[in-house]
Amino acid sequence: MPVRVPKAARLGEGEARTFAYVEAGELREGFVLRAGGRLVAYRNRCPHLGVDLDMGTGAFFSAKLGRIYCHTHGATFEPATGRCDAGPCLGQALEPLGVRVEGEDAVVSASPGGVRNGCA
Ligand code: FES
Repeated sequence: MPVRVPKAARLGEGEARTFAYVEAGELREGFVLRAGGRLVAYRNRCPHLGVDLDMGTGAFFSAKLGRIYCHTHGATFEPATGRCDAGPCLGQALEPLGVRVEGEDAVVSASPGGVRNGCA
């Protein structure tokens, strides 16, 4: 079921917003991030140990590295693909969520066949 993230389309470069969603009967957390001018959305879960990437800080992106990063052991992830390019989960990837813009909001879909990750 799609989740509306209010005013997420107004996020500045490197800014993110978390939201809750249900998938497979489980309450999960995701985040919408603007990186490289595009909105992307992923589940807030590091593939290394399954913990929150941001440790509750709301910060997911390093402008210095140009990467999403995990606060626990420092793994870095390409914003456009979610693929880990450095750290203990090298070669693994974040779980992508579909995202589209509706007015000032982002609408995120976790369901298969949902909108493709990444939009302007
Ligand atoms: S838990 Fe994320 S890199 Fe180890």
